[in-house]
Parts: sequence; structure tokens; C-alpha cells
Amino acid sequence: MNQAEKEGYLREYSILKNEGKPFFPYAVAKDGTMALIVMIVIIFLALMFGAELGPKVNPTTTTYVPRPDWYFYFLFEVLRVMRNVPKFTPMATIGVPTIAMILLFLLPFYDRSTERRIERRPIALAAGIVTIAAMAYLTYTGANTGSPNSVDMKPPSGLTASQRQVFEAGAAVVGQSGCLACH
Ligand code: HEC
Repeated sequence: MNQAEKEGYLREYSILKNEGKPFFPYAVAKDGTMALIVMIVIIFLALMFGAELGPKVNPTTTTYVPRPDWYFYFLFEVLRVMRNVPKFTPMATIGVPTIAMILLFLLPFYDRSTERRIERRPIALAAGIVTIAAMAYLTYTGANTGSPNSVDMKPPSGLTASQRQVFEAGAAVVGQSGCLACH
């Protein structure tokens, strides 16, 4: 932003500011009233309908299928995919999302362009699309992944058809009996 643009912007800002109402008490009163209404509605709904509680916790279960809330599916999927590479697991599940958050936080410091039209900001546009597409894909695959009570182990090569059947029957027993909770 050059000097002339900056002055023009400040001039426009002071004109608009003189036309408007002060934040306190006008905007505060509006926001406060709305917040109060929302809270009353929530309290009312909680009293009327209560909150849904799932079945009681069973600490001895071995077949429970743990799943995060839907907005964490993308992280869950990253963890699920990366768990076979323990060396990179912390980097993929904690490092990358943290770096992305820090980059987003620092955006005003490194993107100094005054351009606002999205089609003239190809890097920002590409970064946004890639992020959204990646999160959408990971959320979808995370939501549709199989139960941990199934064993994803390939049968060894060179089995005869009947040996293969035995292997698959065994894999089903191991998966469904919760053996993998310990082994
Ligand atoms: C609660 C945890 C747990 C579960 C669930 C579990 N195991 Fe085990 N398993 C163990 C432990 C602990 C040992 C070692 C016992 C010992 O050596 O005394 C063991 C030992 C074994 C052994 C013997 C290994 C050896 O080298 O002798 C086999 C085979 C085995 N388990 C298979 C299974 C199968 C199949 C299932 C599912 C039906 C299963 N386990 C479920 C904890 C578990």
C-alpha cells in the first residue's frame, strides 16, 4: 500500500466513522440483547427436551468403534493413515495443522497486497481450494472408513484356495473378538 492509497483510505475511514454511531453503547446493546435471547432459547430447549445421552459407558468392551465428532474426521483420518509410520505421526497430526494455523494467523503480515478480487489472487485462491479440498476428502474418507474390528492384513502369497478360506475365517474371528485391543 503506497502513501497516497493510505491517505485516501484514512480520509474515507474518518468520513465513515463520523457518520456512524459509537460502538458503545449501540452495538454492545444490540449484541447483548441477541446473545440474551439465544441463551434464553437454549435454556428453554434444555428444560423442555433435555440433552440426549448415549448408552452407558462400558469399560470392558473390546468391540467399541471409536470415532471423533464429524469436524475432527479429517484429523482422525490423518492419524489413521499415518499410524503405520510412527516416525512421522506427530509431525503429520500435530505439526502440519499447527503450521497451517500459524500461517493463517500470520497472513496479514506476509500478504501485503491490496488486491481484493479473488481471481487476481491466484496463490491465495489455490491455497484456499487445496485446503478445502484436502479437508473435504479427508473428512469423507475418515467418515467412511471401516471398523477397527476388521483386520486389514493381506493373506500371505502362495496359499491354496482352502488355506485362504481358513485365513479369512481366522481374520474375521480376530477382528470381531477384539483381539487387536491388546495384540
Ligand atoms: C485383554 C488383552 C488380550 C486380548 C483381548 C487378547 N489377548 Fe491374546 N494375549 C494377551 C496376553 C497378555 C498374552 C500373553 C499371555 C502370556 O504369555 O502369559 C496373550 C497371548 C496370546 C497368544 C499366545 C502367544 C504366544 O506366543 O504364546 C495367542 C496366540 C493369543 N494371545 C491370541 C489371541 C487371540 C486370537 C485373541 C482374540 C480372540 C486374543 N489373543 C485376545 C492379551 C490379550
